[in-house]
Amino acid sequence: MNIKELESKHFFQTYKRFPVEISHGDGCYLVTKDGRRILDFFTGLAVSALGHGNPDVLEAVTKQISRYLHLSNFYLQETQVELAQSLLRASNYDRVFLSNSGTEAIEGAVKLVRRWGKTQKKHTLVSLLGAFHGRTMGSLSISGRKKYREGYDPFLPGVKHIELNDVETLEQAVNNETAAFFFEPIQGEGGVRPVSEVFVKKLVELHDKYGFLIVADEIQTGIGRTGKFLACEHLGIKPDITIVAKALGGGLPVGALLAREELNQYFPPGSHGTTFGGNPVACAAGTVVVNKVSEEQFIKDVGEKASRLRDELETLQKQYPSIIKEIRGLGLMLGVDLHTTGAPFVEWFLEKDVFINCTDQTVLRLLPPLVIGEKEIEEFIRVFEEILKTS
Ligand SMILES: Cc1ncc(COP(=O)(O)O)c(C=O)c1O
Repeated sequence: MNIKELESKHFFQTYKRFPVEISHGDGCYLVTKDGRRILDFFTGLAVSALGHGNPDVLEAVTKQISRYLHLSNFYLQETQVELAQSLLRASNYDRVFLSNSGTEAIEGAVKLVRRWGKTQKKHTLVSLLGAFHGRTMGSLSISGRKKYREGYDPFLPGVKHIELNDVETLEQAVNNETAAFFFEPIQGEGGVRPVSEVFVKKLVELHDKYGFLIVADEIQTGIGRTGKFLACEHLGIKPDITIVAKALGGGLPVGALLAREELNQYFPPGSHGTTFGGNPVACAAGTVVVNKVSEEQFIKDVGEKASRLRDELETLQKQYPSIIKEIRGLGLMLGVDLHTTGAPFVEWFLEKDVFINCTDQTVLRLLPPLVIGEKEIEEFIRVFEEILKTS
């Protein structure tokens, strides 16, 4: 049996996998076993921000591997503390809890909100339709995508979902009993849909009036993806809690719940924990990623490359208005909304050696490595134009 047949025999068929076998990564490319170099505008879903095989990440990981792979959160660990220092400095928060994944960090936020809310008599959670916060039950309860929730009820009680950017419904949904509002600055799975400035302004006003917590899920938008270390910087807000993951570990699994000092008292010893969260090897990689991405010049470059890519995409949109409806997103998290279904485009791109993703039926989601260069942007646009010409 070949690997495809073995996979379909042994695994739950939860994933639709790309029909190629990867040999190794090389910067902005993945190389297949039969020698194709595929331009990676997918980055394992916004993970490999520094590309594949970054020498600094490899060096940090190799050094840590030779010391120890795991201790436990019962031990003081300098690699964890180094990551915490870098991350708190870059994000301007005071406290961190390290997890294994995005969804686990969201669960941590839901738990922290609950414990805080108990002391304030606030127990309802508000989140957005179209939101994706992860696959575990707490995260799924606040997620608003029917496709992922179907068949998993009953969910956590006391969760209200409202339309993205609907200011009036937001006003009606929150009150003195609201414990927290959860949102992604740009809905990723939901079709690369940014939260509007008007909505955020009203959110902050209501937050100040009723005293609930604002929780930003920056699992996809964080760590430089949008041209700022955190996407909320574009919106001029600092939520009470921010969650990051994905790109944080440079390809290794680690997530983080970041919070203000005032919330520290609600997670006393024993109230929350994890065996693997904050794994030292992932933390060693994470420190390299955070230090790199938070460099002023690096983040400036991301912004410049992003404008270049966006300009080129907007030119294509003008040339092919019957195919491309809209370009959305910020920085290097861009969505190309089509008038037609996007799945065939993913296949056509792959035929021409480019990985992209399609979400929400019609949206091509572009998540290139943050280290992408002019050459890769040109290559991507050339391929896209070839596809548009013949589709
Ligand atoms: C915005 C957002 N939140 C949460 C998650 C879940 O993260 P993880 O898959 O690491 O559990 C994702 C993953 O795609 C995401 O994009």
